[in-house]
Amino acid sequence: MAYGRDGELFAGFSWEECQMGENSIATLIGRKSLLYMKRFQEQEFGGHPKATFAHSLRVGALMARAVTEFGDGAAYPENVALARSVGTLHDWGKYITEGVMALIHSGRAASEEEFVKIRSHAPKGGAHLAQVLAEQPPATAHQRSTLHHASYVATHHHSVLPAQPTDEGLRLSMDLTALTKAADAADAMLIDPTRTYRAERFRKEGLMSATGALNMERIRESALRGLPEAAFGVPLAGVVDLACDLMPVAA
Ligand SMILES: [Fe+2]
Ligand SMILES: [Fe+2]
Repeated sequence: MAYGRDGELFAGFSWEECQMGENSIATLIGRKSLLYMKRFQEQEFGGHPKATFAHSLRVGALMARAVTEFGDGAAYPENVALARSVGTLHDWGKYITEGVMALIHSGRAASEEEFVKIRSHAPKGGAHLAQVLAEQPPATAHQRSTLHHASYVATHHHSVLPAQPTDEGLRLSMDLTALTKAADAADAMLIDPTRTYRAERFRKEGLMSATGALNMERIRESALRGLPEAAFGVPLAGVVDLACDLMPVAA
């Protein structure tokens, strides 16, 4: 298993894979935003340094792997890049919404009001990405279309997805959102090494037996609730299985 410069934070992903996510942010919304994202978390908050940033990179990397392994990524590398970029940017709102990161790292359960504030990272992130697209559009048509989809995905990654639209462009945005939701849940449940309560929660929810054996069917069910069977050409159960293979051994 390859580990990056940040050791177990990238759990199973190589530094090169994560750096591709960093580069996509630098290309799409500027190097200043990338540095802001990294520094913001390192300097301002307690908890695990860079935890949210590493999560963002892992979600993008997991989506890129899923499209490569199960989708049409081998024939269309631009689809791998698209999935990686929208995945890496899905939580962008967490970095730009004042107070959200502090609440996430407070180490206690959020009140209802605080929960609403945390959830606001989705629409706020999406709106900001749309603003960047309008005011400082990236150079190529593919990059502009990626940022357009990233804005939709960031806005809707915590919402229930509406019924299938007929509009082709919107359909693609929604497909990418479903894939992001699967990767986001799979990372949180299975890979994220900063979530120390995993084993306890898994036993309580019947996702793990008393002897520690994983109940994959229940895990898939829990991570993929409300999602279609496949999205962006990827069977979403495959995303959870990929994440399971990357699960830190000591979890
Ligand atoms: Fe989120
Ligand atoms: Fe997330």
